[in-house]
Amino acid sequence: MADDIPITRNVVPPQRAEGIRQRVRKMERLGQGEDASRLARRDDAAGLLALLSDPAVHAPIYSLPRPLTLQTVEGFIARHEEERERGEGLLFVRERDGRIMGYSDFQIWPDWAAGELGGALHPSQHSKGQGTRGAAESFGWMFEALDLDLLCMTASMENTPTQRLLDGLGFARMGCVLSTRPDGTTRESLVWEMTREAWQKRSPAETP
Ligand SMILES: CC(C)(COP(=O)(O)OP(=O)(O)OC[C@H]1O[C@@H](n2cnc3c(N)ncnc32)[C@H](O)[C@@H]1OP(=O)(O)O)[C@@H](O)C(=O)NCCC(=O)NCCS
Repeated sequence: MADDIPITRNVVPPQRAEGIRQRVRKMERLGQGEDASRLARRDDAAGLLALLSDPAVHAPIYSLPRPLTLQTVEGFIARHEEERERGEGLLFVRERDGRIMGYSDFQIWPDWAAGELGGALHPSQHSKGQGTRGAAESFGWMFEALDLDLLCMTASMENTPTQRLLDGLGFARMGCVLSTRPDGTTRESLVWEMTREAWQKRSPAETP
């Protein structure tokens, strides 16, 4: 998504990077039960547009298409299918009763064994702890199932819930970058990172 992240870039051997790409290409689901997410398909575009159209969902996220239309959301899904084929990205959705209630956008940098997660929940689900629980599950999955060494996350200056979520899970603040939206406009983002080693050493008290 952004050119300036991750801040930490440790190049891994080509074989390791290829292994990460192969893992990404195979992924279809994350999690179990009703909170499980699955790969987004082209025919999810209308449902995803319905979720993203609410400013409480799209305003804090720099990586979403602008403007948000059925066509641009179809393009967003198609781009992620291409990224998955390259082993560099995944787009997952979470459904309940036929409605898309959340999405997760994984950007993977295999050469650095690093990744970024973006996403959102339906506004009816905000501020109940679900975002923290889901993010923690996704971060653990990125380290273990995708074999990453580093996670890099961003949040806008105004996005208090995401800032608190990342601080609370023990991510380290790494400064600021300028994030570029698909329409070329920019915004300042705060940056956090977490290593696999630090994630594994987290105390049980930090587990949501
Ligand atoms: C970001 C998001 C996933 C967080 O999930 P959530 O379920 O709403 O958040 P949680 O209930 O887990 O709360 C996370 C932290 O933010 C705090 N928080 C929640 N809502 C808040 C609000 N409206 N104002 C201030 N703080 C808030 C919580 O108290 C918690 O902090 P704490 O652990 O220090 O008490 C969700 O709000 C969302 O989808 N937002 C829109 C899209 C977005 O911002 N995506 C992230 C950027 S990619």
